Amino acid sequence: MRTQVGIVGAGPAGLLLAHLLRLQGIESVVLENRSRDYIENRIRAGVLEQGTVDVLNEAGVGERLRREGLVHHGLEISFNQRRHRINLHELTGGRTITVYGQQEVVKDLLRARVEAAAPLYFEVENTSIHALDTATPKIRFSHNATAHEIKCDFIAGCDGFHGICRPAIPAGVLQIFERVYPFGWLGVLAQSKPPSAELIYCHHERGFALFSMRTPEITRLYIQCEPDEDLANWPDERIWEELELRLGASDLTLHEGAIFQKGVTPMRSFVTEPMQYGRLFLAGDAAHIVPPTGAKGMNLAVADVRILARALAAYYQTGGTELLNAYSQTCLRRIWRAEHFSWWMTSLLHRFPDTTLFQQRLQLAELDYVTHSRAAATALAENYVGLPFTE
Ligand code: FAD
Ligand code: DHB
Repeated sequence: MRTQVGIVGAGPAGLLLAHLLRLQGIESVVLENRSRDYIENRIRAGVLEQGTVDVLNEAGVGERLRREGLVHHGLEISFNQRRHRINLHELTGGRTITVYGQQEVVKDLLRARVEAAAPLYFEVENTSIHALDTATPKIRFSHNATAHEIKCDFIAGCDGFHGICRPAIPAGVLQIFERVYPFGWLGVLAQSKPPSAELIYCHHERGFALFSMRTPEITRLYIQCEPDEDLANWPDERIWEELELRLGASDLTLHEGAIFQKGVTPMRSFVTEPMQYGRLFLAGDAAHIVPPTGAKGMNLAVADVRILARALAAYYQTGGTELLNAYSQTCLRRIWRAEHFSWWMTSLLHRFPDTTLFQQRLQLAELDYVTHSRAAATALAENYVGLPFTE
C-alpha cells in the first residue's frame, strides 16, 4: 500500500487529522487496534473549548454537536461548604464551553470517514513503524491475519500515551518532563438528573469531587481516589454517600440514579520535546498528558492536529517545510500553558496525602482569591474556555 500520511490511532487526534487532510485533498490511511464499537463507547472527556467547537464546525462535523452539545456560560467552585460561580462568558468577552462526550466527537468523525469511504482499519495487530528518518517511512501491521506494509510520505503518531510511535523514536532524541500525582479519579456515569445546570469543582477535606453531565438526564461524576483504586471498594451506595459528603452542606440535591459505568483514571503530567523525529509527527496524548482537572486533554489533541494538518497542506501545496519544521515549537507553547493550568487546578482542588496544615491554608487562600478577585477569576476563566488560536 502507498499513502501520503499514515495515521496510527483513531482517537480524536487521528480521526480529526484524517478529516482535515481529506478536506485539503490529502490521502491518509488510519490504523486502529481496537474495534469500532470499543472506541465509540470509550467514556472519557466531556468539555470542549470554544476553539475546539469552532474547528469541528468549520470542518463540517459539528451538526450534531450544535444540536446536542450543552453550552455553558459558567462553572462553580465549592469549598468550605459554599459554592461560588465563575462567570466564564462575562470574564472572557463572550466565550463559552460545550459539554459533549468525547465518544460523540469520535462517532461524528468516524461517520464522516466511513461516508467518504476513506481507508480506516479497525482491530489491526502488531503495528510497527520504520525508516522514520528517510523520505519513505513505513508502517507494518496485520489485519485479519494478513501482514501489510504501507509506504508513506509522513507518519502521524496519534496512538495515545501507551502507543507504539513515541517509543519507536531512538533513545536520546526526546526529552521527557513528567510528574505523577498520588491520587486518581473514580469516574461514573449515572442515569440521573444533574444536581446543577453547571459543572461544580469541589474542594473538600475528604478529597476532590466533580459534578458534570452528559445530557439533561445523565450525570457524570468524579471522586478523588487512590491512583490504583480497586473498583470493588466502590459499590454504588458508597459513591453516592461520598458525593453527598463532599458536596457539603449545600442547598443542592443529588438525584441518585442507576450507575451504569465506572472507571479509575490515574493522573499525570507528561510532555515530550520535540514532538517530531524525521518524518514522524506525534500528536495528542502520544506526545503529552495533563491531569484531567481543567479538561484540557482532548482540546490539546485537537489543537495539535489543526497545526499539523495546516503544515502538511502547506508542504503538499508548495513543497515548503517551514511549518512542518516549526510544528513542535508551535504546539508546545499552548501545551505548556495547558500543562501549567492543569497542574494548578489539580494542586488547588485535591487533597494531597502528605499535605500539611500550612499547605491546606494556602489552598484555601488561593480558592478565596480566585472566587473573589476579578483578576484571578479572569485568569482561570480564560484558560478554562481555552486561549484563542493565534497560530
Ligand atoms: P486517544 O484518545 O488515546 O486515542 C489513541 C488511539 O490510538 C486509541 O483509539 C487507541 O486504541 C489507538 N492505539 C493505541 N495503540 C495503537 C497501536 N499500536 N496501533 C493502532 N492504534 C493504537 N480531555 C478534555 O479535553 N476534556 C475533558 O473533559 C477530559 N476529561 C477526561 C476525563 C477522563 C476520565 C480521562 C481518562 C481523560 C479526559 N480527557 C479530557 C483527556 C482526553 O480523553 C484525551 O486527552 C484524548 O483522548 C486524547 O486523544 P488522542 O486521540 O490523542 O488519544
Ligand atoms: C469532565 C471532565 C473533566 O476532566 C473536567 O475537568 C470537567 C468535566 C467531564 O468528563 O464531564
